[in-house]
Amino acid sequence: MNPSIVDSSPFLYVRVVEEQQKVVKMDSKICSIPQEMMLGTGEQLFDHIAQCLGEFLESQDLKGQTLPLGFTFSFPCEQKEIDKVSHSKHTTNAQQAHDKHTTSTRQAHDKHTTNTQQAHNKHTTSTRQTHNKHTTSTQQAHNNFEKMISGMYLGEIVRLLLVKMAEDKLLFKGETSEALLTPGQFETKYISEIEEPDSGLENAQKILTALGLNWDPVDACVVRLVCDTISSRSACLCAAALATISNRIRVNRGLDHLKTTVGVDGTVYRKHPNFSEELQAAVRLLAPECDITFLVSEDGSGKGAAMVTAVAQRIALQSMGCYVEKYLEPFRLSLEKLKEVSVRLKKDLIRGLGKHSHHRAAVKMLPTFVRATPDGTEKGDYLALDLGGTNFRVLYVRVVEEQQKVVKMDSKICSIPQEMMLGTGEQLFDHIAQCLGEFLESQDLKGQTLPLGFTFSFPCEQKEIDKSILIRWTKGFSCSGVEGQDVVKLLKEAIHRRGDYDIGSVAMVNDTVGTMMSCGYRDQSCEIGMIIGTGTNACYMEEIKNVKRVEGEDGRMCINTEWGGFGDDGSLKDILTEFDEVVDQTSINPGVHTFEKMISGMYLGEIVRLLLVKMAEDKLLFKGETSEALLTPGQFETKYISEIEEPDSGLENAQKILTALGLNWDPVDACVVRLVCDTISSRSARLCAAALATISNRIRVNRGLDHLKTTVGVDGTVYRKHPNFSEELQAAVRLLAPKCDITFLVSEDGSGKGAAMVTAVAQRIALQSRLLEDSDGEDEEDEDEDEEDK
Ligand code: BG6
Ligand code: GLC
Repeated sequence: MNPSIVDSSPFLYVRVVEEQQKVVKMDSKICSIPQEMMLGTGEQLFDHIAQCLGEFLESQDLKGQTLPLGFTFSFPCEQKEIDKVSHSKHTTNAQQAHDKHTTSTRQAHDKHTTNTQQAHNKHTTSTRQTHNKHTTSTQQAHNNFEKMISGMYLGEIVRLLLVKMAEDKLLFKGETSEALLTPGQFETKYISEIEEPDSGLENAQKILTALGLNWDPVDACVVRLVCDTISSRSACLCAAALATISNRIRVNRGLDHLKTTVGVDGTVYRKHPNFSEELQAAVRLLAPECDITFLVSEDGSGKGAAMVTAVAQRIALQSMGCYVEKYLEPFRLSLEKLKEVSVRLKKDLIRGLGKHSHHRAAVKMLPTFVRATPDGTEKGDYLALDLGGTNFRVLYVRVVEEQQKVVKMDSKICSIPQEMMLGTGEQLFDHIAQCLGEFLESQDLKGQTLPLGFTFSFPCEQKEIDKSILIRWTKGFSCSGVEGQDVVKLLKEAIHRRGDYDIGSVAMVNDTVGTMMSCGYRDQSCEIGMIIGTGTNACYMEEIKNVKRVEGEDGRMCINTEWGGFGDDGSLKDILTEFDEVVDQTSINPGVHTFEKMISGMYLGEIVRLLLVKMAEDKLLFKGETSEALLTPGQFETKYISEIEEPDSGLENAQKILTALGLNWDPVDACVVRLVCDTISSRSARLCAAALATISNRIRVNRGLDHLKTTVGVDGTVYRKHPNFSEELQAAVRLLAPKCDITFLVSEDGSGKGAAMVTAVAQRIALQSRLLEDSDGEDEEDEDEDEEDK
C-alpha cells in the first residue's frame, strides 16, 4: 500500500503564472483519510474531503474566493466530460484491496500450490499461477496487469515465493516465521532496500531478522535474487506496455521515428535502485523507433490537475471566444480606421478655427486668450477654483519667483451634491461662493483681494480672459440659466450676494489649459494639455494666424479644441456601436459629445454594463442570468474596469465585483468580463491616440518641421488610474504620428495650479489681442471658409 496515494490526500493551492512562463507557485497540505472512512459511506468520505478543503482554504485565507479546482482522483473513472465522471470501481481502496488480498493470500497459502520450480528462475509459471490465483480470487481478474507490476502487490509476490521456497526447504532451513506467513508483512519497499547495490545484502539480513527468520548468508543472496526477479519482471512488463503506446503514437502520426517525453511518477519508479534503468533499457529494445525521454514529475499530479483545469478554462474561453468576438469586434479599431478618424478630425479642427465655418463645427476650437506658457518668472499669490472634474477644489497658490518653479499650495475639496448639478445656476454659484468663503476664512485670507484663476471644465466661448460664455453643459451638469451666460459674471454676482469677501481679477481657463499651464511650469516645451477623466478634451498652442476668429498674425494662442464634440455631426457614425447609441440616448445630453461618450470615465463603465447585459441575455455569460444591479444604469463603475484589468489581481477583482453585483458567475465568465473591459478601454485609448496624433501632427506641419519634439501635460482618472491605458495610448500615438516625439507629463497638482499660472502669466504679459465678433465677418476673406465653400 502506498500511503501517500491511498490514505492521505494532499490539498494544493496552485497559481499558474502566465507572465513567469513555466513557473507555478504552490502551497499544499497533506490530510489523512482514516482507515474506517475508506470503508464507510461515500457521503462520509466526501464530507471529509470537503472539510479538509475548507480548512485548507481558511489557512490560506482563500475562503472568499471561488477558485477552479483540479481533482486528481486515482481510480478508474468513465469520464463523460472534464467535469463529469462516473466512477467504475475502486482498485486501490486500501482496506477493500487489503481485505481481499488477505483472503486470497491465505487461500494461496493454504492451498500450497504444487508448483515447485526453483524460485530463482525468472518469471516462473508457479509465481504467475500463484499470483493469478491470488488475483482471480480477489478482484475477479480485474487489473491483473497492475497486480504483476505495482507497489501494492510486489512485496506480496516476493513473500509468497519465499514461503513456498521455505516450505520446499530451499530457504531458511525449511522454516518460515509468523511474520513471513502474514500477508502484507513483506513490504514492497524491502525489495528496493534489498536491491540497493552497496548495502543490499546487509539490508536483506536485517529484514529477514526482523521477520523472525532463521537465515544464513546464502538465504540472503537467494532472497535478493527473488526480489531482483520480481522487480525485473515488473520493469519489463511496464516497458512492453510503454513501448506499445509510444509505437502507437508514432504510427498514428505516420512517423518513422518518434521523439517524445513520458512524465513519470510513483514510488516504485522513484525509489527502486534500478527499476528505471531496466525499464528504459527494455523500452529501447522493444520500441527502437521511439526516442523516449523520461521526466519525473516534480510536484506530484496535483499540479497537473490544476494545469488540466487551467487548460480546460482556456479552451472553454477560446471556444467561447468566437461567440464573444461577435460582440467585441465592432469595438476593435484597426490602425487604418484610426488613421481615417484622424483625417476626419484634422478637417474638423480647420472647420472649428474658421471664422464662418466655426458655428457649424462639431469640434469648437475655442480661443482661450492664453498666448504664452509660463517662463518661470511668474510670482504672486492667487486663489483658484477647479470645477468640472471628479472633485470641486478651492486652492490658495503662492508662486515664488525666487525659488524658481516652486509653487506652494493649500487646497480643499468641496462636494457638489448631485441635485445641485441639476438645479439652478444661482444655487450652484452660491454654493461655489460659499465654499470659497469658508476656505478663505480657514486660511485667514478674507481681508485680501486676491486674483483668482477659475478652471471651469466645460466648453466656453471666451471673449476675454475674464469673460467666458458657457456654450453648453457636459458631463452630467445641467444647471438652468447658465448656458449662454458669462460664468465670471455669475461667480462675481454670487460673491457679491454674500458681501463678506471679494476677489481680484479673474482668469477663466478650461481644465486642459490649466493642465498644460501647470505642466508647462515644469517643462517649458509643454504645449498640449489633455484630459482623459470624467470627460475628455485637449488644448494646444496654435498659430494665431490660423485662428480666424481672433485678430493678429503673429505668435500663438492656446486653443481649447473641445474634441469631445467630435462626431456630433455624424462623422463617426461608422464606428458607433448600438451600445454607444444607448449610452448617448440615456445621457442627459443626447446627441452631444459623441467622441467623449466613447472615451471618457463618465461613460466607459456604462458601455461595459450594456455589453454584459446583452451577453447575459444571449446566454453567453452568467448562465444566462442578469441581476438587479447589472440591470441598473451606472452600477458598473468605470473604476471597476481598471480594477478588473490589473495584471496580478484583475481576475480576483473581477470575481469580487461580479459577486457584489449579485451575478452567478463562473471562472470563464470572469475571463470574458476582463476581455470586455480590455476591449472597451483599448478602444478609448486608441481613439484618444488618434486625436492626439492629429493635434501633434498639426503643430508639426504648422511649424514646417519634419520632426516635432513636444510635451503633453495630461490629467484625468482614466489616464492616471487604468493599469495600461497610458501605455496603449502612447504606443498607438507612436504609430499614428511617427514624426512626433511626444513626452507625456502627468499633471502633479491638478489644473487649479495652472489656472493660477494663467492669471500670473496674464499679469506678466499685456493682453493685446482683441476678439473679432463672430457674425460680422467685416474683415478679410477666410481662407478656410473658402475651402469649405468649395
Ligand atoms: C484634475 C484637474 O486633476 O483632473 C481637473 O484638477 C480636471 O481640473 C480633472 O478636470 C480631470 O480628471 P477627472 O477624472 O477628475 O475628471
Ligand atoms: C468635457 C468638457 C471640456 C473638458 C473635458 C474634460 O469634455 O466639455 O471642457 O475639458 O470634459 O474635463
